[in-house]
Amino acid sequence: MPLSQKHILGVRQFTQDDINLIYGRVALLTAMKPSKLVKRLRGQTLACVFYEPSTRTSASFIAAMGQLGGNVIPITQGVQFSSVAKGETLEDTIVTLGQYADAIVLRHPETGSVERAAAVSPVPIINAGDGIGEHPTQALLDLYTIQKEVAYPGKHMHVAFVGDLANGRTVHSLAVLLARYPFVRFDLISPEALQLKGPVFDEIKDKVDSVHFVRKGLHEVQSILHAADVVYMTRVQKERFCDGGSYETVKDSCLLTPELVEGMKTSARILHPLPRVNEIPTEIDSDPRAAYFREVRAGLLVRRALLDLILEGGSE
Ligand code: NCD
Repeated sequence: MPLSQKHILGVRQFTQDDINLIYGRVALLTAMKPSKLVKRLRGQTLACVFYEPSTRTSASFIAAMGQLGGNVIPITQGVQFSSVAKGETLEDTIVTLGQYADAIVLRHPETGSVERAAAVSPVPIINAGDGIGEHPTQALLDLYTIQKEVAYPGKHMHVAFVGDLANGRTVHSLAVLLARYPFVRFDLISPEALQLKGPVFDEIKDKVDSVHFVRKGLHEVQSILHAADVVYMTRVQKERFCDGGSYETVKDSCLLTPELVEGMKTSARILHPLPRVNEIPTEIDSDPRAAYFREVRAGLLVRRALLDLILEGGSE
């Protein structure tokens, strides 16, 4: 099987067949009785190693593994409780966990750390976020949510990425993944200091309809938001700033308001990888266009399917 025993490091590795296989497996497992589901990964173990905070990614992998009947080694409460606090290298931690686990989910603050881990790991590594690099499983669940929810009536599907496009790894993975579809066009909305640059921008630039540097608020790009089919909101990634002062100057530049949402297409959807800070007020949550908590649910389904494929669930 194509994904069995494979590392999942970034979205560029996925073929369209892989994506179809994953979403097909989502459907298969969703239709399965819990009593059958729980036999699929019985006896297998997943290590979850998080060198950065997480709620959804870690919890969904742990819940998914449990539903499939597997076990989890949870190093998610901070590596300060592991030997990393004693100075152990990432490589030694990974080799060690590979003696106990059948796969390792890794989140780490350094871009490229997952490649280092994969180079020494005896078992598959799943990238759960490497610095400002990639977050491939988030992109898979974002795309899944878009496919389920967004009926775009026009010739193109307009995706507006909003917020911290420089540091948001979920944006980097999703933009690259979406760019392969000919019908997708992008609008990039951020403060100038947080614009999308570098290899990701270079890779998607032919698909970019407009780039906007917001100064005082999202009302400056009202017409773009009202024409969008997907508004992908993001948090300003405070932990990537070296000095608090520059964070303060940009933190409130891209805040969605109920008035702005009012004018959006009824078929449009607001996505957000979460956690949110103040960029989406809670009054918007009850709007049918607010898809971010349904996106959370998709995270469990997509990660469960991915684990089942990598660890060859149901093959015995
Ligand atoms: C994101 C991340 O960790 O990159 N969270 C997540 O996994 N859903 C987004 C963020 O932290 O802003």
